Amino acid sequence: MTEKLEQLSIKDIPPPPPGTVFVDDASGTDDSSAGTLERPFQTPAYALYSSPDAPIYVRKSADGQFEPISASMLKKAKKGVDGLVKKIKNAEETAAKKAADDARKLEEAKKIVLVNDSSLPEAKRIKIRDGSKSRESRVVIQGWVHRLRLQKGLAFLVLRDGTGFLQCVLAGDLANAYSTLTLTLESTVTVYGVIHPVPEGKSAPGGHELAVDYYSIVGLAPGGDDAITNKVQESADPSLLLDMRHLVLRGETMTGIFKVRAALLRSFRRVYEDMGILEVTPPCMVQTQVEGGSTLFALKYYGEDAYLTQSSQLYLETCLPALGDVFCVQESFRAERSHTRRHLSEYTHVEAELAFLTFDELLVHIETLLAKTVAYVLEDPEIAEILSKLNPGFKPPQLPFLRMTYDSALDWLNERGVPNEEGEAFKFGDDIAEAAERKMTDEIGEPILLTRFPVEIKSFYMQKCADDPRVTESVDVLMPNVGEITGGSMRIYDLDELMKGYAREGINPEPYYWFNDQRVYGTCPHGGYGLGTERILAWLCDRFTVRDCSLYPRFAGRCKP
Ligand code: 4AD
Repeated sequence: MTEKLEQLSIKDIPPPPPGTVFVDDASGTDDSSAGTLERPFQTPAYALYSSPDAPIYVRKSADGQFEPISASMLKKAKKGVDGLVKKIKNAEETAAKKAADDARKLEEAKKIVLVNDSSLPEAKRIKIRDGSKSRESRVVIQGWVHRLRLQKGLAFLVLRDGTGFLQCVLAGDLANAYSTLTLTLESTVTVYGVIHPVPEGKSAPGGHELAVDYYSIVGLAPGGDDAITNKVQESADPSLLLDMRHLVLRGETMTGIFKVRAALLRSFRRVYEDMGILEVTPPCMVQTQVEGGSTLFALKYYGEDAYLTQSSQLYLETCLPALGDVFCVQESFRAERSHTRRHLSEYTHVEAELAFLTFDELLVHIETLLAKTVAYVLEDPEIAEILSKLNPGFKPPQLPFLRMTYDSALDWLNERGVPNEEGEAFKFGDDIAEAAERKMTDEIGEPILLTRFPVEIKSFYMQKCADDPRVTESVDVLMPNVGEITGGSMRIYDLDELMKGYAREGINPEPYYWFNDQRVYGTCPHGGYGLGTERILAWLCDRFTVRDCSLYPRFAGRCKP
């Protein structure tokens, strides 16, 4: 500090002695914690009031120097202090009077006893979503206080019960009661009353509001420092918000996303049902890899080596001869080190496997599934409304999707000067990494079926193309804003070919004996794919990151709460 003060000394101006308080009319603030060089006071009067014996240095203009306060300025400041003392005293008196008034009001409020009038009709218990059907008759609803506004003689609270939001109006004693004056956000309440349409020109969720005739508190949430608004602030650091995920989930954006998520999974299941594809539940604890050893989560399983599954594909393949075409909705696990906006360590993987089909048929199946699923999601008016708020510009994908081979994607990128990961022009065999892929999807602006990837950059099980053995019958579905949402392929169905695949990737085929047997006991051409639920949601709900689309996202460094 002394060093800093000495640096301030120029020509004829003595360095400020220790204990100096600083004043800067342009950038200062008059509050009791200010006065330092970094945070000066605004006025000499306040400086003198808060530190009567300290030397004062003043800066008159933003580009000027701090100089000792002049005698005339000090004289003026002394006069200013008298006014300041008066002003502060007045403010203190007003605050004390208000506090006494409030305390008196609260004491008065305690005398009000709320009673559930037994002469009123019996209330029917409903959920908020059934409000429209239950207008004009007495109902009882339980939920959480989502919003709260106290006005003279009236209290408005928006109640949330997970099925919707309902505005409740409290008047008279109900508004003036102690429990209402001290009510807090996120408290749980039971409200009784009658739902009426809102008056012309007013708006409320569902177009109606509950005229409350009685209510009681089930659990009072904390106010003050511990109030939810202090625990969860939109502008807070993302990592703090993730620590508080259990409370963040209650916000309207999050509840919207998770309702869309439920609708998405429901719609996938409905399309699979329409297509006659059966749901199965493969294991999560496995002893084989699917998508490369580097992202395996290893664990000890009663003394044996095991992993958390990366994909249920191999197990789905074994179901084909038993159950025909199958799908699953299962958690997949990837020990991804990279902190990207589209990678999670655990994600919900929708996977399907189909027997006796061609690569072209697989592509048609995938685009149909996606288009139909989105159509089903939008069929639900509640979900369509949520989506119109989250992603107002959303356009449902149109069939057929654009088809593009890996080769022509490289040409597309090279023509536009988009470099590969080494900063050079793309050449055959290069991975099209996230940035380049995003550039392509965002510019093309519609779903792309990107096909025929080189053997070396794809997994051991992928079938080679009959017309070009350098490439595979593989497909990634790319969507604007997120890039790859689906990866699929035809599978090698010849045992010898499969053995070559293991050898190329340095995988010991032994633990895969059960998978290899599919090629022994009645092999067949087949293919399948995996869809990343959180990536599809990021696309549907226009989220910057897949982390918003997972209930409790897991990624490197995050496994709580
Ligand atoms: O492309 P992937 O790795 O393919 C497979 O796992 C195949 N065995 C699936 C199959 O054919 N049955 O993953 C498929 C999809 C990706 O397109 C992506 O949407 C999602 O799973 N995905 C991830 N999502 C979030 N975080 C990660 N770390 C993901 N890795 C893949």
